[in-house]
Amino acid sequence: MELMELLMTRRTYRRFDQKKISLDIIDEILLAARMASSAANKQPLSYVVIQNEEKVDAVFSHTKWAGYLPPEEGQPKKEEQPVLFIAVVQNLDINRDCDTDAGLAISNMTLAAWNHGVGSCIIGACNKPVLSEMFGLTENQKLHTVIAFGYPTHASYIADVEDKADAEAIKYYMDENRDYVVPKRNLSDVVKYL
Ligand SMILES: Cc1cc2nc3c(=O)[nH]c(=O)nc-3n(C[C@H](O)[C@H](O)[C@H](O)COP(=O)(O)O)c2cc1C
Repeated sequence: MELMELLMTRRTYRRFDQKKISLDIIDEILLAARMASSAANKQPLSYVVIQNEEKVDAVFSHTKWAGYLPPEEGQPKKEEQPVLFIAVVQNLDINRDCDTDAGLAISNMTLAAWNHGVGSCIIGACNKPVLSEMFGLTENQKLHTVIAFGYPTHASYIADVEDKADAEAIKYYMDENRDYVVPKRNLSDVVKYL
């Protein structure tokens, strides 16, 4: 995909086909993470890959989806679950202040996946103590997020934020086809030219 098309169409997906993601694509997603910039080139991040069905189920049970929607609408059903999770781990003995590094790596991963038609959802709302134990993390390893991947079974598209004074106007919602609509603030509201 051309770069701007990739950036414009990569959205968050929350319902997936149960088709597996090939190892070649998973390797490319991880390579994309490895290529991300990091402060002082310290490379403090590491990754836990969860692709075994039972383990994916176990991780899924500790994740929360689509906080703006009632769980019965936003939480994927069993047959809609992702087929892969990649956990992003911050190694604090290398750099304690690496949230930007994590964001850049996550962005690379979700774009590399989408380049192959693989959708993703970044999950911050997860039970980090339980998952950290499941992943065997040490005291100096902080779980940043888990990223869910799979082939999407719904569309997701952007809309303009209509009323910038309305704090609710940025909330994503589902349309009549259960596709996600994601309001984005207008450039004129977020850019100032000096
Ligand atoms: C740091 C971060 C944490 C997120 N955590 C969650 C989450 O726990 N559950 C969820 O369903 N979506 C989560 N999301 C996805 C956002 O809701 C989504 O990116 C946002 O609504 C914009 O949609 P878009 O990615 O399609 O542009 C998270 C995104 C980011 C960047």
